[in-house]
Amino acid sequence: MSTAKQGSIFWLSITGLLCSVFFLAGQYYAGGPTSASTPFLDFVKARRTYYALNDTLGFGKETVVEIVQDLVQDVPSAFNSQSNRVVILFDQEHGKFWDTVSRTLKNIVTEDQWQSTSDRIATFKAAAGSVLFFVDEAVVQELAANIPTYANEFPTWATESGGMLQHSTWTALEAKGLGANLQHYNLVNEEVAKTWNLPATWRLKSQLVFGGRTGEPGEKTFKPLSEKLKVFGA
Ligand SMILES: Cc1cc2nc3c(=O)[nH]c(=O)nc-3n(C[C@H](O)[C@H](O)[C@H](O)COP(=O)(O)O)c2cc1C
Ligand SMILES: *[C@@H]1O[C@H](CO)[C@@H](O)[C@H](O)[C@H]1NC(C)=O
Repeated sequence: MSTAKQGSIFWLSITGLLCSVFFLAGQYYAGGPTSASTPFLDFVKARRTYYALNDTLGFGKETVVEIVQDLVQDVPSAFNSQSNRVVILFDQEHGKFWDTVSRTLKNIVTEDQWQSTSDRIATFKAAAGSVLFFVDEAVVQELAANIPTYANEFPTWATESGGMLQHSTWTALEAKGLGANLQHYNLVNEEVAKTWNLPATWRLKSQLVFGGRTGEPGEKTFKPLSEKLKVFGA
């Protein structure tokens, strides 16, 4: 091979390599280093409430478990108290939860309300699974006993850490292409504890229903940012 040819192959390879590096860096920074855009913000923006769901994940259940596993460990909590507790239900176990909600509500709602209530529950049951979020009241009480200065704050901080976990989970599952919606059928707390043999100190806070997307999210309106955000010294 001539030296000239070797030289041009060398420069082609270098150019190719540089292109790949810049392409990957561009992907990483999305809008470039001067833009606020990141993959994280893109996913936060893309998260919506999806009610029309089916039971197809399109990938293994272990992926959902791994996502939730990571978030349970990584989401922060006050004094690193780790007050969040989670149960993931798939398929028949998920169905069992929504049957329990259905039975419980039938005894509570009026006959007029029952049709719409049972229709709504049927859409949740048709999904692939539910993530149940709890706060461990034992952790909250122990903190209050050990750090009396903040005793009144701990329930709120546990709720806030729970909210962080719920939002992260919602966003992460939708980043995998699923749809999800957040529900609060917490009056089944005792029956859930019995069915899945959970510690009595776990208090049910919310349910994230997830599955394949079979419809689009509804319209969303936004109050002007000027009502919600003030910036000083920028
Ligand atoms: C703390 C909280 C509680 C919510 N509770 C419910 C609920 O009980 N049932 C429900 O269908 N949606 C519930 N939602 C969903 C909101 O209605 C929804 O997030 C909001 O309208 C914005 O729409 P988006 O999720 O599509 O962005 C809740 C959302 C949050 C953050
Ligand atoms: C469920 O929805 C997903 C995503 O829209 C789709 O790919 C899949 O075919 C659906 N599954 C069934 C059984 O309808």
